[in-house]
Amino acid sequence: MSDFLGLKDRVALITGAGQGLGRAYALAYAQAGAVPIIADIDAKKAATVADELRSLGKDSLAIEVDVASEHSVADMTARVLDRFGRIDILVNNAAIFSTLKMRPFEEIPLDEWRRVIDVNVTGCFLTSKSVAAPMREAGWGRVIHISSAAWSMGRGNYLHYTTSKAALLGMTRSMARELGTHGITVNAILPGATHTEVSRETVSPDQMNAFLAQRSIPRLETPDDLCGALLFLSSDASGFVTGQTLTVDGGLSYE
Ligand SMILES: NC(=O)c1ccc[n+]([C@@H]2O[C@H](COP(=O)([O-])OP(=O)(O)OC[C@H]3O[C@@H](n4cnc5c(N)ncnc54)[C@H](O)[C@@H]3O)[C@@H](O)[C@H]2O)c1
Repeated sequence: MSDFLGLKDRVALITGAGQGLGRAYALAYAQAGAVPIIADIDAKKAATVADELRSLGKDSLAIEVDVASEHSVADMTARVLDRFGRIDILVNNAAIFSTLKMRPFEEIPLDEWRRVIDVNVTGCFLTSKSVAAPMREAGWGRVIHISSAAWSMGRGNYLHYTTSKAALLGMTRSMARELGTHGITVNAILPGATHTEVSRETVSPDQMNAFLAQRSIPRLETPDDLCGALLFLSSDASGFVTGQTLTVDGGLSYE
């Protein structure tokens, strides 16, 4: 593959890459010549993805991390820097998502609300904070927050989730302002409902049919549909694009 996007040997740290969309992103980075770091709270799944990449002849590293823990995030960043000496790209993909139980907001227990905000929002703050210094030193960096089109649609029955994904848009804009002078861009991708190998309750078959009917491109969304946007925002080609949100949902919602 030609290095059209200039991603060869870029070190891309992807949180929550042990399964689902994060795994697809890791494969896409490897295909583009970058080195994906598979960081996940599930060490076994992270190792499986790293093994999969190695079996394809791609360099990789699996790291167990809880993005909601400052200590754990510091350890993750230190391990990547120790092994590769740089972190060029951070994809804040880890979230409490496929395990969520849909329910009216009055029924969400406070401890569940707090954990979702801790992982989905504070986690992005902690990981971004820990990679900012090495990116600033390098004078180049890409931070990509994975939000969700679910918040712009105002989907019900997982208020902690939609709230957490909306928070990432404020984080994207303010962080972009602070890091722009250092050659670091900060953007957000808003995926639509995307089928992965992981089953979940968050989109019922009826809801999926309704989404399909509303999409300008009326077909199922696959993880590959998101990779073009991800690689673009990771590349030199997007060097003057920052503080932006890119919705990738087949034209269901228009921001
Ligand atoms: N799949 C979709 O339809 C869709 C749509 C919009 C947005 N998104 C977003 O895309 C991202 C990935 O979605 P997915 O479908 O692959 O989700 P998923 O639930 O299948 O995967 C999430 C991954 O994050 C990891 N994780 C959870 N808590 C963690 C923590 N504290 N520290 C580190 N890792 C942790 C999990 O172990 C898992 O591997 C999420 O941010 C999700 O909100 C997904």
